[in-house]
Amino acid sequence: MMGDKRSRIIKALKDAQKSPVSGEELGLKLGISRTMVWKYIKSLQADGYEIESSPKRGYVLKSVPQLLYPEEIQMGLKTTLLGKEIHYFEEVTSTNSIAKEIAASEEEGTLVIAEVQKGGRGRLGREWISPHGGIWMSVILKPGIPLRHASRLTLVAGLAVANVIRNMDLDARIKWPNDVRINGKKVCGILTEAKAEVDKVDYVVLGIGINVNMDLKDIPESFRAGSTTLKAELGRHIKRVSFLQDFLFELEQQYILFKTQPFSHILNDWLALSDTIGREVKVTTPSRIIEGKAVGVTPDGALVIKKADDTKEEIIAGRCIYARSR
Ligand code: BTN
Repeated sequence: MMGDKRSRIIKALKDAQKSPVSGEELGLKLGISRTMVWKYIKSLQADGYEIESSPKRGYVLKSVPQLLYPEEIQMGLKTTLLGKEIHYFEEVTSTNSIAKEIAASEEEGTLVIAEVQKGGRGRLGREWISPHGGIWMSVILKPGIPLRHASRLTLVAGLAVANVIRNMDLDARIKWPNDVRINGKKVCGILTEAKAEVDKVDYVVLGIGINVNMDLKDIPESFRAGSTTLKAELGRHIKRVSFLQDFLFELEQQYILFKTQPFSHILNDWLALSDTIGREVKVTTPSRIIEGKAVGVTPDGALVIKKADDTKEEIIAGRCIYARSR
């Protein structure tokens, strides 16, 4: 496989830790000619790998590109399911759209990742701004669950994102149903889409967008107010590849819990990080606006609102606004 040889060359050069590796040695290792090695090196250089070559000594890897190349993500990835197959694009309309097109013929755990989305989609038909520097990806899952449980995976993904951001010493919280926020500003959004036959899902596409290294000025002004990026919060550039590896591992752990434990485990963890419960909210659905106090979340991810007349209502999807800031 082409990709396999490419990654083996990258790995050999990385293992050599900046000391030169000769074309002959690489060729022997991979069972290919020195000319073929040189062709791989050329293609790696074209992709932004800074590789010095000297005819006598060989090749030295000086730096790797700061891009989400599958080889980079997979090297050192600790998952067993997520990211075994990665479809990488420099630019797409929407990774969710691509994931849905290919989902039927893909194994569970396949990722679609892009550096830039030109038609990124948010919930409720909104646009999702996706410039360079973020992580825009879709995860294909085949959990074999009833369609009504698919929204639980949104909570699973939100919890995983919040957990990995919290590991960076940032106080990430979850706003129902799917926004991960730091200091009240959105850093991540999740768009879950599913296809189902009768009741069982064929697949679920978890679309996850994380604002990582963008400058706030890269986000158009009309979207900027309620948004933040990890870079803005931490005051430093984040290594996207290792962040993504950590996230995929965390998501896989949560997904395993989702499949093997009662959902209450995930729900309790989610509730502990939610900043919605206990607040006065205003939720807009396509048909109406519901106001009241958010008092809980059902196992299917619906928000439970206690209204002024003391009756409770469950809302499965909608736009939630906090009525008062805290
Ligand atoms: C929201 O908060 O409204 C959800 C935003 C989801 C954005 C992600 S980015 C990767 C994937 N592809 C899309 O077009 N959308 C999701």
